[in-house]
Amino acid sequence: MVDVPADRLDEYLAAHESKGLLRFLTCGSVDDGKSTLLGRLLHDAGLVLTDQLAAVRSGPDGEPDLALLVDGLQAEREQGITIDVAHRYFTTGRRKFIVADTPGHEQYTRNMVTGASTADLAVVLVDARKGVVRQTRRHSCVVGLLGIRRVVLAVNKLDLCGWDERVFADIERDYREFARGVGVDDVTCVPVSALHGDNVVAPSANTPWYDGPTLLRHLEAVPVGGEDTGPFRLAVQHVTRPAGRRGAAGSVAGGVVRPGDAVRVAPAGTAATVEAVVRGTAEVPDAVAGEAVTVVLREDVDVSRGDLLCAAGDQPVVASRARAHLVWMHERPMLPARPYHLKIGTRTVAGTVVDLLHRLDVDTLDRVPADRLEVNDIGVVDLEFDRPVAFDPYRGNRHTGGFLVIDRLDGGTVGAGLLDLPLHGRDDLHWHRTDIDKRARTRLNGHRPCVVWLTGLSGAGKSTLANLLERRLHGLGKHTYILDGDNVRHGLNRDLGFSDADRVENIRRVAEVARLFVDAGLIVIAAFISPFREERDLARHLVGADEFCEVFVDVPLAVAEQRDPKGLYQRARQGRLANFTGIDSPYEPPEAPEVRVDTAAADPEHGVALIVEHLRSIGVLDDADG
Ligand code: ADX
Repeated sequence: MVDVPADRLDEYLAAHESKGLLRFLTCGSVDDGKSTLLGRLLHDAGLVLTDQLAAVRSGPDGEPDLALLVDGLQAEREQGITIDVAHRYFTTGRRKFIVADTPGHEQYTRNMVTGASTADLAVVLVDARKGVVRQTRRHSCVVGLLGIRRVVLAVNKLDLCGWDERVFADIERDYREFARGVGVDDVTCVPVSALHGDNVVAPSANTPWYDGPTLLRHLEAVPVGGEDTGPFRLAVQHVTRPAGRRGAAGSVAGGVVRPGDAVRVAPAGTAATVEAVVRGTAEVPDAVAGEAVTVVLREDVDVSRGDLLCAAGDQPVVASRARAHLVWMHERPMLPARPYHLKIGTRTVAGTVVDLLHRLDVDTLDRVPADRLEVNDIGVVDLEFDRPVAFDPYRGNRHTGGFLVIDRLDGGTVGAGLLDLPLHGRDDLHWHRTDIDKRARTRLNGHRPCVVWLTGLSGAGKSTLANLLERRLHGLGKHTYILDGDNVRHGLNRDLGFSDADRVENIRRVAEVARLFVDAGLIVIAAFISPFREERDLARHLVGADEFCEVFVDVPLAVAEQRDPKGLYQRARQGRLANFTGIDSPYEPPEAPEVRVDTAAADPEHGVALIVEHLRSIGVLDDADG
């Protein structure tokens, strides 16, 4: 029995080193008997379970010591998001264990990905009465992707099938065949009853036909450790100055580091030498993967949070594009071209999926074409970051090759992925500076540029408003241009339709064009339904918040439908036009637009006046501009 207070975890892990440590995760649903099984395991082995989250342990500089946790957990904790992976520690006479226990409902993916990246083995639970089901396959796919090669298939509730050997054998055969396809090549199947304890700790008299190990015996005996953790990597959490020297603090994510080692600071590639390795307050001769340390550098080089300290002789790749496996975790689907934040190690960058190559059908393992990833979908994507990022392919290093996808608007984790390989090409592109710039054009024009972004339902009055506004501005001698949904779709965006994915791409392109036109010195009036908050937010970021004015052209759907200037609502209602905004395609109203215009309540001239007033308040127009 062991009871580990959080502040003594180090001691606990250091103890019984010879026993070895097995990290495993459990997958299956509550209905399959997962908690019962874990409870039974601990109870029958005479252990007391102690729930501990390692983050409460204090590391150097009072930062949480995240050495035992996977990157995903770090990311979530730093953002203050509650996570529901419980790491549980227990030890038997033969071995110590860390279990990442993940809830089993369909929302499991996030928990598995964030809880599993350091697991040596997965215990996959199936209900003998149901056999291998979709969820079992999905779990196993993720397990395989995560690089966990060993699975114990616990075939539970076999008592309810009369301990029928054939039931067990059929499930075993089904599972082995599937597991091979997802790269899980070491499968041990154990017939158990979590409720009654058969084959959990003690062998069962009910399964005379089974001569394999009990669950616990297998967990104690399966070979672990000794794996090569690769070349030295340390994801820099923060920079300290112990005794005036420059130190990079973080968890060793691979390899070993010793004083005297030649290192590089990636992605910049700056060379440096390790002066000392500090753990807590003491200098140590070395540090290995999993330890939280401060690496003191001899040279006064630039290091900051998000950098990757690495072995000079074996550096990570640096690229601003990468191919990756992506597991989507949110009800809102992943759409290519939509802006997200990507958390890679300790670095957060802006990024998008530029190409969704395919989705994986978890039942057949077929690659199917897709234009989006729904919750729990797994796909292969090409990612683009807003700057070069240092990483290792996931199969080389689970820590530096994994990433989380974060929603830009609410900061929640919406996906997790594994980087497969860098894609080159764009890194050779440079921004060409010109002598005549926006400031020069502004001076010549006599006014500042900006974007007036009109969003609202079809028929809300955006184009009418845009036209009136442009006439007004033109009359004031301002340089203007209207980008209008219908017009742009005749040319630049003629290849796009009205699926969510196409609308995202439509707005991305328009936002880029608006940015160029602002650079050209114009007041751009953009009139697009632009139904999604993310893309309007992207436009705002691309252009710059101080030159962006979001106008919500707000009319009730009933009013827009009543107007129906192009007869489109009628066609949509008759089912002859699919994906029509407001009918069978969503519209997300702005939460804090700069201007709100209700064209149902007041005439459009009033809306123009409100916009002009706002442009004056931000200095695009001046008081002389009546
Ligand atoms: S957006 O959603 O991608 O921003 P955009 O503003 O470019 O749309 O184009 C909207 C215009 O396309 C509408 O004013 C309407 O005339 C036309 N249209 C045709 N089909 C649809 C549809 N399914 N949903 C919305 N608008 C449509």
